[in-house]
Amino acid sequence: MGKLVVFDHALIHHKLSIIRNITTQTKEFHQTVSEIAMLMAYEVTKDLPTISVDVKTPVAVAKCEKLAKNIVIVPILRAGLGMVDGILSVVPDAKVGHIGLYRDEKTLEPHEYYCKFPKTIATSTVLLVDPMLATGGSVSYAIHLLKQQGITDIRYLGLVGAPVGVKKIQKEHPDVQIYLASLDEKLNSKGYIVPGLGDCGDRLFGTL
Ligand code: PRP
Ligand code: URA
Repeated sequence: MGKLVVFDHALIHHKLSIIRNITTQTKEFHQTVSEIAMLMAYEVTKDLPTISVDVKTPVAVAKCEKLAKNIVIVPILRAGLGMVDGILSVVPDAKVGHIGLYRDEKTLEPHEYYCKFPKTIATSTVLLVDPMLATGGSVSYAIHLLKQQGITDIRYLGLVGAPVGVKKIQKEHPDVQIYLASLDEKLNSKGYIVPGLGDCGDRLFGTL
């Protein structure tokens, strides 16, 4: 079964209380989503493979470690875009691919409308980002697209997940690590996460 990490960090708890709040407006919502993504990225990347290098300092030669593989951040459009800048603030050399999916309001099935990856993605570590893991259909579909590119190290970062979505990813993609800021209770009859934070894309981009 794939590793599941649910963050237990005072700053992340605090920032979740901001984005969950119905009164939080677009600017603060966007800023806070980005900040949580930045904090999560620090932890998610802590065991990335490194190689030893000798670095000449002004004084002597130091044995250092550098990242062995490139990093590609892949947001699922639209809401995943809100997490990209926060992650880039800690891994500024990362490239960014995009997967465009929307969830049919009735069937809750994902529909693809865009897909563009950097040429080097197959040999990179991929950080797949989408704030909401509800049924898990969108993230599972996105992982399927990434695996078609031959990628072997995929880590999914989300803000709020539902148990059913986590189970789906663990069953269909047991090799993918899942990192969530919160694991919530359930989905409601419309497929929204409870208590959740509402429609993340609409709150990020002011399209409510
Ligand atoms: C939301 C969210 C996920 C998906 C989660 O996107 O950002 O991509 O729903 O639901 P699932 O786990 O049941 O697939 P939405 O389809 O609303 O598109 P948007 O980001 O463009 O608003
Ligand atoms: N997508 C969202 O934006 N919010 C949810 O609660 C579920 C899916």
